[in-house]
Amino acid sequence: MSDARWLAGLEEQARARLPAPVFEYVVQGARDSTTADAAAASWRRWVLHPRVLRDVTTVDVSTDVLGRRTAVPFGVAPSTLQRAIHPDGELAVARAVAAADGLLVVSSNAGTPFRQIGETGVRWWVQSYLPADRTLAEPLLHRAVEAGADAVVLTVDTPVVGTKYARNPEGTVIWDVVDPALLRVNFDPGYDDAPGSEKALDLGPHDLDWLTTTTGLPVVVKGVLRGDDAARAVDAGAAAVWVSNHGGRQLDRAVSTAAALPGVVAAVAGRVQVYVDGGVRSGLDVATALALGADTTFLGRLPLYALVEGEPGVRRMLAELHAQTLETLRLCGATRVDDTRGLIDPQPFAGL
Ligand SMILES: Cc1cc2nc3c(=O)[nH]c(=O)nc-3n(C[C@H](O)[C@H](O)[C@H](O)COP(=O)(O)O)c2cc1C
Repeated sequence: MSDARWLAGLEEQARARLPAPVFEYVVQGARDSTTADAAAASWRRWVLHPRVLRDVTTVDVSTDVLGRRTAVPFGVAPSTLQRAIHPDGELAVARAVAAADGLLVVSSNAGTPFRQIGETGVRWWVQSYLPADRTLAEPLLHRAVEAGADAVVLTVDTPVVGTKYARNPEGTVIWDVVDPALLRVNFDPGYDDAPGSEKALDLGPHDLDWLTTTTGLPVVVKGVLRGDDAARAVDAGAAAVWVSNHGGRQLDRAVSTAAALPGVVAAVAGRVQVYVDGGVRSGLDVATALALGADTTFLGRLPLYALVEGEPGVRRMLAELHAQTLETLRLCGATRVDDTRGLIDPQPFAGL
């Protein structure tokens, strides 16, 4: 694999090297995988209108995220079961992100104690799903605050977990083979048996207030696909809105994030920051998202594929994506993230 195509080959490398149920867990979408399969191609439907005759000697791809500079306009999105991919799991990812001066979001289902993640020195946010009995979430949230999380990400697209099908001939799913000790180590023992620990079906704008008061942290709302919902989240006190369809793992046939982003950016109208994830696999995708108004992007599966090679794999992935983003900005005549705005004529395209 030539260096130029290394990033693009990560998924196939993960397919070849991971046990089939683990790879399938990472790659799968809900139901027919329509949304998951369309995500990456959807970014390619936008066209760039590059500027020329600009001095691009010095290009700065750093970006402000909730008031702090991050070196690169992409962070790592929360995901479960990183320790099933590599024994170092979340710690390998945290160390690699720390070395790149990036931003990490840690899943509430993580298999590594928050304290150990904080000790890597990485800038990190905690992701949370809220249970029917909100008070049950408090111990985990307090642990995250103590371990140095500087924002909380509320995932709002998961009132129930979207159904996924086993695709291997044996019908083996990850839960048949995975060691339960590899996940959910930041919950209190016995959490899942407590009445009210099931995911909340009645999540609403008032929960943002509760979460802000409980943690004292800014609340980022993840899983928004519509402008009207984005505006409601902002009115309810969201510090930022994160456009996501959960990597196509929740509602199949949900709109692609590449298509949904401009509507959310317009509805938010600069009141708070807007982030996006879903199918971001290259520097061209990152630049496209920035050009459409995202303040930063997040990567779900890409770091998981890179994690097959442990911390060095994730470091290399971040470095390659940095280099690709730099090249794209140069070719667009942009020297800063802000210069990317206006590189796309946001004629809406429908759907996926
Ligand atoms: C294996 C896997 C596990 C995930 N677990 C979580 C999770 O625990 N919490 C969450 O909010 N999102 C979770 N997500 C969704 C990601 O945060 C992100 O929204 C999505 O993966 C982005 O799409 P991409 O994978 O195409 O980059 C998970 C995604 C994957 C692939």
